[in-house]
Amino acid sequence: MTADFAADIAPLAAAVDEARQWERLMAMACLGAIPGEGVNRACLTPLDRAARRLLIGWAQAAGATVSVDAAANLWLRREGTDPSAAPVLTGSHMDSQPEGGRFDGIYGVIAGLEVLTAMEATGHRPRRPVEVVAWTNEEGGRFAPGCMGSMAWSGAAALADFAAQRDPDGVAFADALAEQLAAEAHLPRRALGPDPRPAAYVEAHIEQGPLLEAAGDDIGVVTGIQGSRWFSVAIHGETAHAGTTPRVLRRDAVQDMLRALTALNALMEDPADVLRFTVGRIEVAPNAPNSVANRARFSIDFRHPDAAVLAARGDAVAGVVQAALRTTTAEVVQTSHAPPTAFDPAVVALIERAAAALGFRQRRMPSGAGHDAQFVAPLCPSGMIFVPCRGGISHNPAEYAAPAHLAAGTRVLAATLAELAAG
Ligand code: GLV
Ligand code: MN
Ligand code: MN
Repeated sequence: MTADFAADIAPLAAAVDEARQWERLMAMACLGAIPGEGVNRACLTPLDRAARRLLIGWAQAAGATVSVDAAANLWLRREGTDPSAAPVLTGSHMDSQPEGGRFDGIYGVIAGLEVLTAMEATGHRPRRPVEVVAWTNEEGGRFAPGCMGSMAWSGAAALADFAAQRDPDGVAFADALAEQLAAEAHLPRRALGPDPRPAAYVEAHIEQGPLLEAAGDDIGVVTGIQGSRWFSVAIHGETAHAGTTPRVLRRDAVQDMLRALTALNALMEDPADVLRFTVGRIEVAPNAPNSVANRARFSIDFRHPDAAVLAARGDAVAGVVQAALRTTTAEVVQTSHAPPTAFDPAVVALIERAAAALGFRQRRMPSGAGHDAQFVAPLCPSGMIFVPCRGGISHNPAEYAAPAHLAAGTRVLAATLAELAAG
C-alpha cells in the first residue's frame, strides 16, 4: 500500500457508476419479479439462466472472459499483468428466496461486475487477475442446503453429495444442474476447485439487519459469520380416516411433529436471544383435511456464533426429536454444518482503511446471515463489505437498499480489490 492510498484509489472509485449499477440491479429484478417489488428467482431455472445471460453480456462488454464449472458456478475474469499470478476473487449469488428481495446476493455479483467495468473504463490493470463468481444455489430455497456451489468448489462437500436432493416438485438437483450446464455448453468449462488457490476473496452484500441504518453508517466491515447447522426431519406414521379412527389407533405424524417442535423449542431456548432457531418448511402427506397424516417433514435452521453451543445443542437435536414421539418413527438428517467463521484480520483492516480513505462512516460487525464467503475463508484471506438496508428487512419482497449506499459499498470493494490485486 502506498502512502497516499486515498489518492491512488480515487480514479477507480470515481469510475464506479451509481446509476449504471442501479439500472443493472433493476434489470435483474425484472427476472422473477413478484408483487411488492420482490423477486422469486430460484437457482437452476429458466429465470436463473436469463439472469446469467444478462450478466454474461455485460461482462463481455467490459472485456471479461466467462467460464462455468461443473457446479454451474459462473466466473467472469479480467486478466492482470502477470498471467501466472493467483487471482483475487469477489462475488455472491444470483438466486433468491421464494419470496425474496431485489438485492440479497445479486448486489455482490453486480458490484463485482461494476468493479471490472470501472477497471476497464480507467485502464486499471493490476498484477493479479480479478474474478467475479456467481455461486450456485446459495439460498437453499429450492434445493437444501444452501451454498452448494461454494461448498463444492471449496471441498467443504462433494458435488455428488447433493445429486439426489429434490426440490418441492420432485426434481433432482443432478437433473437441474445437468439442464443448466447443457444450456451453457457454449461457455468454456473450467475445473471445479480452488486451483490455483485465490490470493483473496471479498464479498459485498446488503446487511440484512438493522444496525447500519440505525447508526447512520454507510459501510459494515464484517469480522465474521456465525455458524449454522441445518437438519431435515421426516416423521413416519400411518394414514387413516379422520372421522372413524379413535385416538388410540392413530399413528398421526402431525401430532408427533407438534410434540417434536415443542421439545425442540425448549432445547433451543435462549434468554439472551443470540441463538437462532427456525422451522421454515413443513410438508405433510397426504395433506388432506379428512385423513390422518402418515408423513410430516420439517426443516431446522439453527445458528449461533459460538462453536461449543452449536455443537452441544445441534448434537442434541436427533435425541430430542426421537424422545418426543409417541406413535411414529422419525429420521433426522443433518444437511449442512458451517462452523463460525472469523475473517482475515488483514483483509478486515484493509476494508476499513478503504472505507476511511473514501470518507465513509463505518463500523465493524459480525454477520448473522450465512454467505458463500464462509466456505471460501478457510482457503484464502477473506472478508465482506455490508451496506445498509431499510429497516433491516431481508428475505422479504420489501427489502430495499439505497442506490448511494450500494455505490458506496462498490467503491469500497473496488479499492479493496485493487489493493489486493496489486500485491
Ligand atoms: C442466507 O440467505 C442465509 O440463510 O443466511
Ligand atoms: Mn445472500
Ligand atoms: Mn439470502
